[in-house]
Amino acid sequence: MPQIKINRIVSIESNPSNTILETMENAGLEAEYHCRDGLCGACKCKLVSGEVEYVGFAMAYTQENEVLPCICRAKGDIELESVHYRQKVKRA
Ligand code: FES
Repeated sequence: MPQIKINRIVSIESNPSNTILETMENAGLEAEYHCRDGLCGACKCKLVSGEVEYVGFAMAYTQENEVLPCICRAKGDIELESVHYRQKVKRA
């Protein structure tokens, strides 16, 4: 399975049929988001290496090296930086 490396700290398995945001959530990471539709830019982060495929229309402003994880999927291994997330706290 391709890997998604986040902030040089965490590596998670990429699920090619899910968006990157969904993949992070399934891996127990609470990534920042708001619209989940490419509009607000709350999920915006940097794509350091690899390629993504957009499955929605990006309305939020992004720089050339930035992506919107809520509306794109990883094409193979990718590395992301400046991802704002929290690790989900497991409750007993
Ligand atoms: S959550 Fe709004 S652009 Fe991704």
